[in-house]
Amino acid sequence: MPRIPDDFIQQIRDANDIESVISSYVELRRRGKNLVGLCPFHNEKTPSFTVYPETASYFCFGCGAGGEVINFIRNIENLDFFEAVKLLADRSGLKLPDAQYDDTTANLRRRIYEANREAARFFHETLFTEKGKAQLDYLVRRNISPKMIKHFGLGAAPDDWHALEEHLRQKGFKQSELVAANLVRYTEKNGKRHYYDAFRAKVIYPVIDLRGNVVAFGGRVLDNSKPKYINTSDTLVYKKSNELFGLNFAKNGNDRKLILCEGYMDVIALHQAGYENAVSTSGTALTPEQVSLISRYADEVALCFDSDEAGQKAVRAALALFSKTGVKIKVIKLSGGKDPDEIIRVHGKEMFAKLLNQADNDTEYKLSKLREKFPTATDDGKINFLREAVKVLAFTDALERDVYAMRLADELGVSKEAIMQQINSVNKKEQYKKAKNELADAQKQAKELEKAVDPQRIKNVRAAKAEDTILISLLNNGAFYKKVKDKLSSDLFVTTVNKRILEVITERLEKDESVDITHLSQYLTSEEVSAVARLLANQAMVSNTVKECEDCITVLEDERRKREAPTPSQMSDESFLAFFSSLNKDDNDN
Ligand code: CTP
Ligand code: MN
Repeated sequence: MPRIPDDFIQQIRDANDIESVISSYVELRRRGKNLVGLCPFHNEKTPSFTVYPETASYFCFGCGAGGEVINFIRNIENLDFFEAVKLLADRSGLKLPDAQYDDTTANLRRRIYEANREAARFFHETLFTEKGKAQLDYLVRRNISPKMIKHFGLGAAPDDWHALEEHLRQKGFKQSELVAANLVRYTEKNGKRHYYDAFRAKVIYPVIDLRGNVVAFGGRVLDNSKPKYINTSDTLVYKKSNELFGLNFAKNGNDRKLILCEGYMDVIALHQAGYENAVSTSGTALTPEQVSLISRYADEVALCFDSDEAGQKAVRAALALFSKTGVKIKVIKLSGGKDPDEIIRVHGKEMFAKLLNQADNDTEYKLSKLREKFPTATDDGKINFLREAVKVLAFTDALERDVYAMRLADELGVSKEAIMQQINSVNKKEQYKKAKNELADAQKQAKELEKAVDPQRIKNVRAAKAEDTILISLLNNGAFYKKVKDKLSSDLFVTTVNKRILEVITERLEKDESVDITHLSQYLTSEEVSAVARLLANQAMVSNTVKECEDCITVLEDERRKREAPTPSQMSDESFLAFFSSLNKDDNDN
């Protein structure tokens, strides 16, 4: 399969300055010659994501994500290499050179987008025909205005097993493409597949991503039958846990505030009531990915979850997830209906406005939960309540701390100064603990990832370090290669990822080609590119001499000898004795 030529990659690299590309996703601050920001690939409050303009690379010391501009786009936009290059080319007005690239995945992905768009059109048009009458009646009964029906592109799946498939086949889509889009499903009976439309006799809610692509559908039954909803399962273009319904509209608001609720209909009802900043998950628990996405668009989020036990559990889980970000949370206490849609329908939008206005910020919410747990009527209760309350306040900003200390002093009849003192002493300890935990969590995650990607690394620390040094030296000084190549072979390498990197760079150095990370990217998986970025980020540890490289090769040879040496139980008595005395000799040497 042809590769994208180096000079085109170079043009992409030059036209898409890493600092400005990443800046449009992450707020970066200058630190010396580098830039730092909060990592968009894991949730954190203290920045460990670093951009290195010098090497046009980035690396996160928390989670180990790294790479160059193409890998960044690949991961943040969830694309494959080829698609990421295309996006960057479009962004900078470059045209890809003509060639037959391997774009089977890219093509299928494009076909799924097209099929989804055509399906959305079909569902929407059906809503205004005889076959969609029941669905339209249903929406009207639920007070959804024609304007909102158009705005959200709501639709009707007819009561028919094959209507959508027939329509899309006529438009030139293959059955396999429709199955890949999850618009058509099949059952297997006696080795024969029976295909049918995934959505039948449903009201249809299209899910639209941030770039305006239709990525999935939710379909609701028209009565009380179960299951209430049918949803698109994960496909090449859709990961339910990464998407938020309504964010395509909500992201355009300019006050960086969102309302997070639980269902499609809530989002639509809220938009209709003038809250264009409402988004929802699709019936699943909130995920760290969704929280990360939200924190890109909002500084403040109002949680609007059911008031039942399950809803309150969801509030606690969401608070925990958001506490790892800088996003401020308010918790709306829903009363007079089970969800915002019902409240607005029964009591009007003014009622919702009132509830939103009264919403507790997360401090208030946590304190009210503590009051329930420790009734403050007794001295004992008061002390226990204060002890916990102080911990909550320790995480708030100075202004909030001041206000609450004053209120609590009044409420409990203690001096404000005493409370502030307690807060400050807890504050130091807790902040430290929290920062430490955050880093430990991220590093644990990075380690697990590393273990999954490269289990050899953990088992061969000494060899892995030597490999790292050799690779860094070669990345920095391509000319070293000729001097060490006779001794350097990839079978000396034990860690899978380093071995792969070595193979790619030696192949290129043989041909006198650049080993700039951006040029390596198309030959490596995203994880391998991250590993190259890790090497570049650690280059200060290497002294960049040929001698150092040679020493590291010797270490690898030594390690190989050890690996290949028979274990004691496999040795003859004679060789075991020889081995044993050689061990003693080593001891005496030290
Ligand atoms: N959901 C789902 N599958 C179900 C039930 C719910 O996917 N069987 C998802 C849908 O995205 C739904 C959300 O969970 O919007 C919230 O569920 P629920 O509160 O039960 O539904 P509502 O959105 O309130 O729908 P409606 O008002 O039409 O009953
Ligand atoms: Mn509802």
